[in-house]
Amino acid sequence: MAKKTVKDIPELSGKRVFVRCDFNVPLDEKQNITSDKRIKASLPTIKYLIDKGAKVILASHLGRPKGEVKKEFSLAPVQKKLAELLGKPVLMTSDCIGPEVQKAVSNMKNGDVILLENLRFHKEEEKNDPQFAKELASLADLFVSDAFGTVHRAHASTEGIAHDLPAYAGFLIEKELKFLGEALDDPKRPFVAIIGGAKISGKLQVLKNLLAKVDTLIVGGGMAYTFFKARGIDVGNSIVEPDLIPEAKEILKEAIDSEVPFLLPIDHVVADKFAEDADTQIVPRATIPEGWQGMDIGPDTISKFGNAIRDAKTIVWNGPMGVFEMDKFAAGTIEIAKIVAEATAKGAVSIIGGGDSASAIKKAGLTDKMSHISTGGGASLEFMEGKVLPGIACLQDKD
Ligand code: 3PG
Repeated sequence: MAKKTVKDIPELSGKRVFVRCDFNVPLDEKQNITSDKRIKASLPTIKYLIDKGAKVILASHLGRPKGEVKKEFSLAPVQKKLAELLGKPVLMTSDCIGPEVQKAVSNMKNGDVILLENLRFHKEEEKNDPQFAKELASLADLFVSDAFGTVHRAHASTEGIAHDLPAYAGFLIEKELKFLGEALDDPKRPFVAIIGGAKISGKLQVLKNLLAKVDTLIVGGGMAYTFFKARGIDVGNSIVEPDLIPEAKEILKEAIDSEVPFLLPIDHVVADKFAEDADTQIVPRATIPEGWQGMDIGPDTISKFGNAIRDAKTIVWNGPMGVFEMDKFAAGTIEIAKIVAEATAKGAVSIIGGGDSASAIKKAGLTDKMSHISTGGGASLEFMEGKVLPGIACLQDKD
């Protein structure tokens, strides 16, 4: 069901709008923001509200301070960056509730922007405490959620507050739902999903859900070795999750039953240790030497996967094909990224899950060549699992 967006709000001028953003940005040891992607992704909603004369109250979490005030989790670096990007002052309060915040909000003029301090400095936020949600709601007339990265959390500022205020989606949520939703519900075919990363745990349900929707499922990265083990193929010292072998077997059976091609690597770049300076060699499937471990997909796999990807009209990608953080083992992921970019240039819709996949695409210098890079890591995975996301479910449905 489509959700009402900020554009459905009849009157914004003078209205106090509580906007839940996901400003959970990476910081270096000097508290410098190392990627402002999530802040930039919220700008269309914030600018729209400013232009319409709303009083814009921004709120977010940063990190996991677990209900304690910890300076290193302050949103102060975000305030600075926001003011710079918006080209206007952004007042920041030292808390997210309480008299200081109420006073600051009552002094706001139309078009002003305030950033509240980290919501997770209060343990009630993650507990979705109804009283805390009411205190947040008391600051505003309307609630707008633009925190796609946090919609899988039922917290006071992502879900609870929607019980007390009319709740709308921001443009970022609208965009994420459009890309991820259309890919899963009404994809242009062929629809190819590429799932990688070190582990199957956390992605089992994604694989099952995708099997029912895709035309081809490609599995690379460390998780492939659990599937090989499930098929009785020796994988040397490669990463395996023994507990998940029964589930891996079940998925392989489902792929056979549903007649969906399930592509696994056919060759590997293997190393004698998990290190950049390891000795390496390329070996075909089933011949990983004892004591060696798979670190990346090999050239034959790149070409096999590439053949499936080149024909695709919808591509969903989550998780790298190898240990891309080490340059020596990044080639597989980078080559697949290039092939996805080429398919996108020819008209395919490519959707990249957040987290490691987004970093890998950035490393390949191809960020601008994809149709959509999700701002949600966990959130996009849970969306692909087919789960109801509480931060979306609580928003008003379109009539
Ligand atoms: C994220 O970075 O995935 C979101 O901001 C959610 O953060 P969390 O996993 O700490 O809830």
